Amino acid sequence: MTTTPATIAVTGAAGFIGSHLAGALLARGHRVVGIDNFDPFYDRSLKEENVRGLASGGGFTLAEGDICDSAWLSRLLARERPEGVVHLAAKAGVRPSVEDPVGYARANVLGTASVLEAARAAGVSRLVVASSSSVYGNNPKTPFAEDDAVDAPISPYAATKRACELQCFTHHHLTGTPTCCLRFFTVYGPRQRPDLAIGSFMRRLAAGETLSVYGDGSTSRDYTYIDDIVAGVISAYERIPRFGYRVWNLGSDHPVRLDELIAAIGGVVGVEPRITHTPPLAGDVERTWADLTRARAELDYAPRTPLEEGLRRQWAWIAGEG
Ligand SMILES: NC(=O)c1ccc[n+]([C@@H]2O[C@H](COP(=O)([O-])OP(=O)(O)OC[C@H]3O[C@@H](n4cnc5c(N)ncnc54)[C@H](O)[C@@H]3O)[C@@H](O)[C@H]2O)c1
Repeated sequence: MTTTPATIAVTGAAGFIGSHLAGALLARGHRVVGIDNFDPFYDRSLKEENVRGLASGGGFTLAEGDICDSAWLSRLLARERPEGVVHLAAKAGVRPSVEDPVGYARANVLGTASVLEAARAAGVSRLVVASSSSVYGNNPKTPFAEDDAVDAPISPYAATKRACELQCFTHHHLTGTPTCCLRFFTVYGPRQRPDLAIGSFMRRLAAGETLSVYGDGSTSRDYTYIDDIVAGVISAYERIPRFGYRVWNLGSDHPVRLDELIAAIGGVVGVEPRITHTPPLAGDVERTWADLTRARAELDYAPRTPLEEGLRRQWAWIAGEG
C-alpha cells in the first residue's frame, strides 16, 4: 500500500480516464506528472478543459509531448524520477483503428515500448498499463476471465492492446519491475471520449435526432463507470509489487444489451428514442462481460455505480449541471 505521497507519471493524463485518475491521485496527496500529446483524435479544447481542473491545485505538472519520442520521454522521466508510471496514452477506439492500423500500431505498440524503456532507464519501480476488453475478441465463452485465450483479436486496436500485454510481460521478465495490465470494459461517465456511444447518443437524443445504431441492438457491453475504474487502477498501482506481472479485468459484471442501453438513456434524457439500424461494423465484438473473480479477490475491486446512476451523472455533466 502506497501510504506516503509519491511522484507518479500518468501518460494520457489529458484524456478521459487519465484526467480522472490524475485528479484522484492528487486528492490522495501524490504529485502527478501528466504526459500527453493532445492527439487530434478529438477536440483539443476538451482535453485542455480536463487538464485545467488538475492544474488548479498544486502537485500537477503537464509535460506535453509524444510518448513515441523516446529521447524526450527518457529525459523527462530521468528528471522527474517517478515512483511509478500509469500508462494510459493510446489511440483508443475500435472502429477508427480499422481505417488507421499503422497509426494505432505506432502510438500503442511503439509508444508502449518507449514508455517501458524510459521507465527502466529512470529506475521506475512499478508500472500499470491500460489494456482493453477488446483483447477477448468474439470468444463465445462468457464471462471473460483473465486466463481465457486472447489470441484472436478482431480489430487492429485490439491487436495493439494484446501486443502491449506481451510487451509488458517481456519487460517484467527482463527487468523484474512489477507490471500489470488492466483490461478496461467500456468506460463511461463525465468527460467520456466523444466518439463513444453513451455521450453521443445523449447529445443526439437531446438535439431531437434519430439514432443510427449498428446491428439489431442485440450486442452487449459491460459498461463501467469511471469512478469504479479509477478505484481499480489505484488499487492495482498499490498492490502490483506483490504480484510481479499480473492481468486484471476491470469491468462491472453486468452486461447490457444495446437496445436496453438506448432505452435507459432515453429515460435519463427524457426523450423517446427513434432508431434506424445499419449493418454491424467490422471489428466490433458481439459482447463483453467481465469475470471479476480475480480483481475482487486480489484488488478488493467492487464496482458500485449502477448503470442508471452513472448515466444520470454523465447526462448532468453533458447538460452542464454536473
Ligand atoms: N474508454 C474506454 O472505454 C476504454 C476501454 C478500454 C481501454 N481503454 C484504454 O484506456 C486508455 C485511456 O482511454 P480514454 O478513453 O481515456 O482515451 P482518451 O483518448 O480520452 O485518452 C488517451 C490520451 O492519450 C493521449 N495520447 C494519444 N497518443 C499519444 C501519444 N503518442 N503521446 C502522448 N499522448 C498520447 C491522447 O491525447 C489522450 O488525451 C487507453 O489506453 C485506452 O485504449 C479505454
